[in-house]
Amino acid sequence: MAITLFLNKKKPILGRCTDDYSTKMRLRYAPFYHAMDAQKGTTIRLDGREMIMLSSNDYLGLSFHPKVVEAGRAALVKWGTSTTGARPSNGSRTYHLELEQKMAAFLGREACHIHAAGYLSCLASVAAFAQKGDVILADKNVHSCLWDGIRLSNATVERFSHNNPDDLREVIATANPQAPKMLVIEGVYSMEGHIARLPELAEIAEEHGCFTVLDDAHGFGVLGRQGRGTVDHFGLNDNVDVICGSLSKSLASTGGFIAASRDVIEFLRTHSKQTIFSAAISPSQAACAQASLEIMQSEPDHLEKLWSNTKKYRAMLKGLGFDIWDSETPAVPIVLGSKERVYPFWKALIEKGIFTVMATSPAVPAGKDLIRTAVSAMHTDEQLEKIAAAMAYAAKKL
Ligand SMILES: Cc1ncc(COP(=O)(O)O)c(C=O)c1O
Repeated sequence: MAITLFLNKKKPILGRCTDDYSTKMRLRYAPFYHAMDAQKGTTIRLDGREMIMLSSNDYLGLSFHPKVVEAGRAALVKWGTSTTGARPSNGSRTYHLELEQKMAAFLGREACHIHAAGYLSCLASVAAFAQKGDVILADKNVHSCLWDGIRLSNATVERFSHNNPDDLREVIATANPQAPKMLVIEGVYSMEGHIARLPELAEIAEEHGCFTVLDDAHGFGVLGRQGRGTVDHFGLNDNVDVICGSLSKSLASTGGFIAASRDVIEFLRTHSKQTIFSAAISPSQAACAQASLEIMQSEPDHLEKLWSNTKKYRAMLKGLGFDIWDSETPAVPIVLGSKERVYPFWKALIEKGIFTVMATSPAVPAGKDLIRTAVSAMHTDEQLEKIAAAMAYAAKKL
């Protein structure tokens, strides 16, 4: 103890780590960082108990699809474990180009660039194109990777109310009319499950010459023809300049993508630090994403099952009287309104063998503390029934 106090005084930053209240609370109540002992699809084992996974982003349930697993294995054998290099130097391989071409074609774009994480892709989608003197109009609920991109760009940021075109119109009217502008939104909001009001937002963006960046991490694989995403869902391919997203959700891999015109992607490859100075996605990750992309086009039943499960699940939650924040997609929050209500609810679900994730303020707006759930194409009717019984039980604990 005395040694810790002495060290903390000598090294204030070390003291910041050892004395941090949020970390102490997290370690005390252990709501996060649960390491599962086993997983097979939507069934996991945690601390020796079998449970149902209800918060993964494996929307199409492809992470255990035999073709995806085999593609990852074959790529590992053929290409080794890693390129151990960045794309501009020694890290580019033909499988990167193949995946990029297939993603671009699927999204109706001229080009695509793949990164080792969705976080990098989405951050770079803002940071590479906006600069000091520009104005970024951002939905106030966008993901943290987009905020980091905004900060790194040094542009001026103006927030508008979540998914609210009227507010965007008001905010944009007060911005410097001469400044180059960027609109930053998500296609499907990961916590809320809301679909962007893209037709209205894109119209305003067009009127003001905004370069539009749409993070479709949760819309890709879920909306549009064969899961082409939010832009395809609305048929607005010509109105969005950059679609970025993650390979770690419907594509059952890890990594990220940026799809746009050839000029935009080549500009990114020249200027984006995240693109130039970070190692390329590994062979097996790329192969798993590519196999999933092919399955999305050849096996439509996964998307159909996802939506039939989503409808059943939402109806069940509504029947139990839960506030699901008007979610329209498989990402379904259960809004409970305070940390004090979220924790016992989450614990009751764990007790009943259902694994979910809590999101409390400031990760969500104050008063919107919630349990974040997501339904998958892989959930069976029997699992949905167990989930319903557990939800009814947890509701009584409030
Ligand atoms: C909206 C959104 N964008 C980007 C990301 C980052 O993706 P990844 O987990 O692949 O880094 C996430 C992940 O949670 C997300 O929800």
